[in-house]
Amino acid sequence: MARCGQPRADEFIGVTMAKARSQFVCQECGYVDQKWMGRCPDCQAWNSLVAETMIAPAKGSNSRAVTSGIEPTPITRVAEDGLPRIDLPFREVNRVLGGGLTRGSVALLAGDPGIGKSTLLLQIMGTLANVKGKPLLYISGEESARQIKLRAERLGVAHDRLFVLPETNLVDILAHLEKSPFELVVVDSVQTVYWPDLPSVPGSISQVREVADRLIRLAKQKDITVFLVGHVNKEGGIAGPMALEHLVDTVLFFEGERGQPYRILRAMKNRFGPTDEVGVFDMTNEGLREVANPSELFLKHRPKNTPGTAVFPVMEGTRPLLVEVQGLATHTSYGVPLRNAVGFDKNRLTMLLAVLEKRAGLRMETQDVYVNVVGGIRLVEPAADLAVVAAVVSSFLGKIFPTDAVVFGEVGLAGEIRVASRGDARLKEASKLGFAQALVPPGTSDPQKSIRCQTIDSIDTLVDFLR
Ligand code: TYD
Ligand code: MG
Repeated sequence: MARCGQPRADEFIGVTMAKARSQFVCQECGYVDQKWMGRCPDCQAWNSLVAETMIAPAKGSNSRAVTSGIEPTPITRVAEDGLPRIDLPFREVNRVLGGGLTRGSVALLAGDPGIGKSTLLLQIMGTLANVKGKPLLYISGEESARQIKLRAERLGVAHDRLFVLPETNLVDILAHLEKSPFELVVVDSVQTVYWPDLPSVPGSISQVREVADRLIRLAKQKDITVFLVGHVNKEGGIAGPMALEHLVDTVLFFEGERGQPYRILRAMKNRFGPTDEVGVFDMTNEGLREVANPSELFLKHRPKNTPGTAVFPVMEGTRPLLVEVQGLATHTSYGVPLRNAVGFDKNRLTMLLAVLEKRAGLRMETQDVYVNVVGGIRLVEPAADLAVVAAVVSSFLGKIFPTDAVVFGEVGLAGEIRVASRGDARLKEASKLGFAQALVPPGTSDPQKSIRCQTIDSIDTLVDFLR
């Protein structure tokens, strides 16, 4: 029953008091509901809803008497102070960021645990500290100050200007940032830091969101550049995923296959530069080393004189890289033949096999087919089709694909080969690495005539070439 004229309990205490209430938040996608459910109705994840206490904004807190003082400005009169950038010690990192780290920006470095995120950032921070400038701060919630020191010494990057702070309470972290003029700050990792007023555990979606939000606000206010480290969960999302991606200026992914030394840095979001450049690193005993010529690295262990391998010049941003595509076709012992691909879309592989069957008459339905792209690279360009087909057909026929050849082109459903973008750059990279011939789509030729081009206009021309 409504109580006329009688104030509620919280109104007695005062209109500015914040109100806490419990909600159920999906830890995968951030969906919020008042009741618990076994499955998130938004992203369909099972068992992902967790009770979190939200602090509702105090009543009347949005109506401010004082404004921020920012006025609308004609766009032509907006001050052009350019984008001052911090030139980082790794050329590969600068390339991915689009020319260095923008001052005052907040970047997120995401990746699997153990992939090398802390190593990369410690090397960047330590090397920067050795160049003159303001002090830098490495905040770690995962390792002790001593552990970080030992690692920095082993990597040869310890310096007086690099400060370490093993702290996870955001109140203390913000207090340190308020009083000291650090130029660049690393928070490793954002999942270990917590805001004490929120009762949910560190790493939960509301904690991660709150921590990132408060750090970002301070960074913008004080012109501090921040690198957040975020661990990726099993499904490949950043825990508290959507929340963080939208808040930060840049999202970088650090990837690689376990047991392989290559690491690839790519930008997934970049407010200040491109998102299609990649940086390639090699994890050694002395830390990460940038790879000046990635193609050489990817082709280093390529088997010679073996059927089932072909070389594809992939465009990663503006840069061509040569990668080895492996195919294996073996007689199936199941009713439904297996199709499996690492580094290539499985559905696209199924489509290519159907085209091979229909247009070139190869009986792929009797074969289990596996495709593997070496070096942890993922091929998303349609131009990779012809290389995948070449590797699989080479294995199927037991015929070696020439070791001095590269191959690229998109395969259409009619078995026709379609033109690929940047043919000239692909051919140039192949010729630079000593390849003598290229199987190319119609209309592609090498303007420098440094590599012999053979036009492949349909999928059966490729099969005939290999027979
Ligand atoms: P780390 O940077 O701790 O990973 P993350 O912060 O992403 O969890 O990297 C740890 C791995 O890197 C560990 O398996 C050991 C390896 N590593 C090297 O091979 N060489 C090195 O010089 C360093 C520091 C680490
Ligand atoms: Mg780490």
